[in-house]
Amino acid sequence: MNALKRALRALFLPVESALEAVFGPRLNPITQLGTLGWFLFWIVTVSGIYVYMFFDTGLTQAWESLETLSREQWWLGGIMRSLHRYASDALVVVVLLHALREFAMDRIRGNRWFPWLTGVPLIWFLYVCGITGYWLVWDRLAQYVAVETTQWLDTIGIFSEPIARNFLDSERLSGRFFTLMAYIHIAVPLLMLLFMWIHIQRHAHARVNPHRALGLGTLAALVALSLVRPALSQAPADLDTAPLRIGFDWFYLTVYPLLDRVGGRTLWAILVGGSVFMTALAWLPPLRKAPPARVDLANCNGCARCFADCPFGAITMIGRTDGLKYEQEAQVVADMCMSCGICVGACPTATPFRSAGELTAGIELPDRSVAALREEVVAAAANLTGDSRIVVFGCAHDAGSAALADTSTAVISLPCVGMLPPPFLDFVLSRGHADGVLISGCAEHDCFERLGDEFTEQRIANERDPNLRDRVSRDRIAVSWNNPARLGSLREALRQFRAHLERRENAPPAKSPGRAAWRAKLGEWWPPARYTGQFVAYAAVATFVGYFATQPVFTYLGPDQALLKLSFIHAGQPLIACRHYTSEELAKTSVNRRRATDCGRGRWPVTVELDLDGRPLYRGTHEPAGLWDDGPSSVYARFEVPAGRHRIDARLRDDGSKRGFAYSGSEVVEFAPGANFVVDFNAADGGFVFGHAVGGPTQGSAP
Ligand code: HEM
Ligand code: SF4
Ligand code: SF4
Repeated sequence: MNALKRALRALFLPVESALEAVFGPRLNPITQLGTLGWFLFWIVTVSGIYVYMFFDTGLTQAWESLETLSREQWWLGGIMRSLHRYASDALVVVVLLHALREFAMDRIRGNRWFPWLTGVPLIWFLYVCGITGYWLVWDRLAQYVAVETTQWLDTIGIFSEPIARNFLDSERLSGRFFTLMAYIHIAVPLLMLLFMWIHIQRHAHARVNPHRALGLGTLAALVALSLVRPALSQAPADLDTAPLRIGFDWFYLTVYPLLDRVGGRTLWAILVGGSVFMTALAWLPPLRKAPPARVDLANCNGCARCFADCPFGAITMIGRTDGLKYEQEAQVVADMCMSCGICVGACPTATPFRSAGELTAGIELPDRSVAALREEVVAAAANLTGDSRIVVFGCAHDAGSAALADTSTAVISLPCVGMLPPPFLDFVLSRGHADGVLISGCAEHDCFERLGDEFTEQRIANERDPNLRDRVSRDRIAVSWNNPARLGSLREALRQFRAHLERRENAPPAKSPGRAAWRAKLGEWWPPARYTGQFVAYAAVATFVGYFATQPVFTYLGPDQALLKLSFIHAGQPLIACRHYTSEELAKTSVNRRRATDCGRGRWPVTVELDLDGRPLYRGTHEPAGLWDDGPSSVYARFEVPAGRHRIDARLRDDGSKRGFAYSGSEVVEFAPGANFVVDFNAADGGFVFGHAVGGPTQGSAP
């Protein structure tokens, strides 16, 4: 599993670096996939509400109403409709990439099992929304989706009669399923929103809105796509003919072409099994965490800063239990703690200046005490030589700060740089342990521990408690945020920082350098080149979404083929012959039990055979439905046949006899290419019905 994650990281990281060069860290779309997901969801919702205001849910009016909206109100209704479709498609891309990236970055184990586990149903909901959405258009694609989906659902075997019969042909078409789809298409997004909310409940300060510029850029790209390539319906559905070639949405319907290859049941097994396996990935293998943070009540004053900063919601504030004069104390929920140490960095008692007594902070990582950290800093700095001695505080997920160590650079690694209490910066610089401090963390706005980079910068800039004291010169503190593939950038940041420190020693800055930490200039792109790059990136994504929303065209049926469907519902003969009571017998029976005929419960299965041009096409025996085998047997089978003239022979047996058929019928049919021909059965009408819909279940009775 680790090798797979490493391989995926090797793919993601260069793309992320390239996008960061173009968009900058705050707008980098690849680190904003979760927030983009929320944003796209809102676009889909708003545009969906608008389209729904003009949508006619009637089966015969649905196509017309959407077509009118697209053509007569193209400047708003048409754009809204296109936005609805394209934002939904983009949502698939964003959600799948988001899931893949969290997996690749290994942000799915430990306490993160929760967003992972709640993410898996979100994928299902998303597909249900998309598939039912296509259904509502009631065009040729909708027809394909309706027929294939109901056939696929029938393979589960939980419906008493095949629901695909609702779409057998135009005469039999039933609007009830269509209305159900409209309800599902509205209800499931609400469920999805609920799960999206649950999804981020274990993350404190979860971001749900992308940076405004990224949101605007995304919206603009989708609007441009909607204008260039408006989303339109295909020809109206016609159940009497099969769609031959369909403009196909490959984002939502990806698995449909597999239905014919692997069969419905296998596909269910793959998808359900795949989802279970995917869910299990959060524990494969279980994360071996360092021991969780521990509160030392003697040093905890109940200030709640650790509670405010813990990215994983692992700290709760409870009433004081030790009798000290403070109102609250911090408590760590061990299972939820990811041992990132950010709470230690937030604790005001974690100060290396403390000389009285043992140095213990109110909250500590047992494996990495603040006292040990102070000793490590002092020991590492003591060996530094040169005029610009630098202490680097790196994190476990940075670009590889350990490689920076040399005679004038000491490297101290922390689980997350957010663990570094600001007084340590003061300590290193004001006590002369080094001339500068470089903080090296994960990519900006993409901290492995979620918020380490943001909180570190805010603490240095006095925007977040605990603040770095004003006396500490910020231009002797540098930050460098890089993903693991950017050791070169980290080295360059160190080189520039050293040069800056040397310049500074020679000519100290005339004016105060401000509160923000110092940053190296790392080959930033010329702004026009950056904007061009952003334009190209948006255009590429819009083209990708626009293309695969309808292309390549899917060939459902060859140009010289037709569909032949054998489908009916028929109850076989009772297992025990019915007993007809005489009037004398009835007279002897009590009134409440008096019945003229008693037929017992079970029924014989129905055996059916279909030949095409004298050759067997179908042979099947269908058991009766119902708990007591007393319901009707259902038959639904679909065949692709060459267009042209064919003879069809059909036979049916429903009385348990070993040979012979109670019913038979023949017809010579001219199949036009793409025709949809139904062989039905209705005992009351004398048996097989060719090409005409008859409707409802029929009851067996010997002719
Ligand atoms: C509509 C679909 C989804 C939306 C809108 C969404 C959105 C988000 C957001 C906003 C976050 C929090 C980011 C943060 O502030 O740290 C997040 C985290 C996460 N999501 Fe999703 N997500 C979706 C689907 C999924 C799916 C399908 C999966 C995988 C099965 C998934 C896995 C995760 C994981 C593991 C995290 C935690 C990341 C971390 O701890 O740093 N999400 N998601
Ligand atoms: S170590 Fe990290 S996850 Fe654990 S309590 Fe502290 S801040 Fe929260
Ligand atoms: S930050 Fe430190 S002192 Fe404040 S509540 Fe947390 S453990 Fe206690």
